[in-house]
Amino acid sequence: MKELQMNMIEQFSEIYDEWLTYYTKQKTTELPASLFTIAHEMKNPLSLMKATLQLMEQDCPLSFSPKIKLLLREVDRMNQLLNDLLHLKKVETCVFKPVDIGSLLEEMQLLFRGIAEKKKVRLSVYSHKKIPFVYGDEERLKQMFINLIKNALEANEEGGKVILSARFKKPNQIEIRIQDTGVGLCEAQQGELFRPFYTTKKEGTGLGLAIVQKILSLHHATITVKSRPHKGCTFIIHFPIHHNT
Ligand SMILES: Nc1ncnc2c1ncn2[C@@H]1O[C@H](COP(=O)(O)OP(=O)(O)OP(=O)(O)O)[C@@H](O)[C@H]1O
Ligand SMILES: [Mg+2]
Repeated sequence: MKELQMNMIEQFSEIYDEWLTYYTKQKTTELPASLFTIAHEMKNPLSLMKATLQLMEQDCPLSFSPKIKLLLREVDRMNQLLNDLLHLKKVETCVFKPVDIGSLLEEMQLLFRGIAEKKKVRLSVYSHKKIPFVYGDEERLKQMFINLIKNALEANEEGGKVILSARFKKPNQIEIRIQDTGVGLCEAQQGELFRPFYTTKKEGTGLGLAIVQKILSLHHATITVKSRPHKGCTFIIHFPIHHNT
């Protein structure tokens, strides 16, 4: 059983490495349908592996326990990666309705308040009163903000700031800014940011910003970044509005 499990892990990491090399070379932000099929199919054997490892952990000699725990952590990490990939696929289905960006930003502030306080980072929201509603999928937009705010908080040290703001920009746009005072980015990094699997974090999957870009393109919105090393980052989103929303 153990050999079978190791085999599966090796097989998965081989497939994953192949895709990674291929898409790093292609420098594309689009992922093929077959990758999502593989991701979907990998989830069943992975659940089986997890259940079996948990059983093994109960029966094995104590000296084996740390090794099994390590395997369990890796299985969880793979599962997370597959979930993120499948999420990327899911965002393609949007349900559009009028959305109040100002309230959404306030909701985000509430959601992240605990994490920000724990990190001793100040999280503030500035939103112009009476900005028109945008036409969008609220759940997807939340998902987009969560990824951007999570990154902004992760980039900050104690004492840093994250500022979320929204304003109406004539004639027909909403400008949203997610600004932080964190580590910032050099020019080379800025060119890589939205590429799937680009990450500088030990535990990152590098899919957060790919998901953000996908969601925004489905809303005909754009995102740009302004940054310098050690001078923080500002992500600027331009959202089209239609005056009948
Ligand atoms: N606000 C930011 N400040 C500095 N670097 C950032 C910021 N946002 C993103 N990055 C850089 O862009 C990379 C890609 O971000 P992305 O959100 O796609 O993946 P990730 O955060 O590494 O992993 P995850 O998939 O868990 O989100 C990060 O690893 C980091 O190097
Ligand atoms: Mg991220």
